Amino acid sequence: DKGGWSSFMAKEVSEEPEAVANTLRGRSHDGVVTIPELEGLDDLFAGINRVIIVACGTASYAGMTAKYAFEQWTRIPVEVELAHEFRYRDPVIGPSTLVVSISQSGETMDTLMAVKFAREGGAKTVSICNTQGATIPRESDAIVYTHAGPEVAVASTKAFVAQITALYLLALHVSQVRGSQSKLAIADALRELEAIPAKISQILEREQAHIEQFAGWMADTRSVLFLGRHVGYPIALEGALKLKEISYIHAEGFAAGELKHGPIALIEPGQPVFVIVPSPRESAEMHKKVVSSIQEIRARGARVIVVAEEGDAAVLPYADEVLRIPLAGRLYEPLLAVVPLHIFAMGLATAKGLDVDQPRNLAKSVTVE
Ligand code: F6R
Repeated sequence: DKGGWSSFMAKEVSEEPEAVANTLRGRSHDGVVTIPELEGLDDLFAGINRVIIVACGTASYAGMTAKYAFEQWTRIPVEVELAHEFRYRDPVIGPSTLVVSISQSGETMDTLMAVKFAREGGAKTVSICNTQGATIPRESDAIVYTHAGPEVAVASTKAFVAQITALYLLALHVSQVRGSQSKLAIADALRELEAIPAKISQILEREQAHIEQFAGWMADTRSVLFLGRHVGYPIALEGALKLKEISYIHAEGFAAGELKHGPIALIEPGQPVFVIVPSPRESAEMHKKVVSSIQEIRARGARVIVVAEEGDAAVLPYADEVLRIPLAGRLYEPLLAVVPLHIFAMGLATAKGLDVDQPRNLAKSVTVE
């Protein structure tokens, strides 16, 4: 039931605040992480020295996003690998490797095979999953469910923000068990996470109509590029994937630092480029670098659409469109910056008259390898 929305995707994007809130609910108390599903597993988390995150598509971008927080908080090296690539090489894994799988459906065959393979190799496995009782969690040592609610639209939206949230909780749990973060730091991180749902709601209230309107003007665009740095990089990839999937427009995401190593050759007058701008308060240096990337593409005629925090005026001289997100710590920005990109993909596909819930050639759950 679409509950009055024009599509399941529209409904599910509107549920992004609850997806985060419900995934957090009941998993902390007084600044301490308390994940009932992970009780009794302290030895497992104390005994690991490496984390490999395996997933496909959007779920893999949630993994790429969480890698930054995971490493920062736990000081354990984290790799992120597409499940189908991981499975078919000869990865170095063993009892001190933790393989974290991420899957909305819990049925993705590529991811399931990667988890089985990891277990056979002696690794420990935790699965992040949105579907109770699905196959992948059954194959894992532990499960942290995302509580995004059922996701019907083929393109994953609310599950993505819930996956990042669950991965952050897992990372905080691991750092709590290992004592790699102070109690204060953990309490602060939880507070930041708890503030996210209201901030996403703010974006939906203030920016949705504006984004849908200019997405409509762009219905004839043939290609869109997305740039981001640090945690903004996987968000650029996610923005591009969503656009490809439901609007059938060629889209690519790049790490902003890669521009001069190749992609800048693509820039010609009128080329739309989304740029995820990191907060100048959180990292003045990274902000400056991204603004200078913007200047470089603007000088070559790009049509620049920035996603930037409220009050960041440095981007104004070079932006054709500015999409505002509320202030948040650097690691939390992706949970906000992705929202305008989800709205944009949906707005553009709708303007093209496409069925946003059922894009051609795709299935919600990919149960073949
Ligand atoms: C993108 C999308 C896909 C899925 C991928 C993994 O919008 O929906 O890329 O994210 O097929 O699916 P799950 O999470 O069910 O394993």
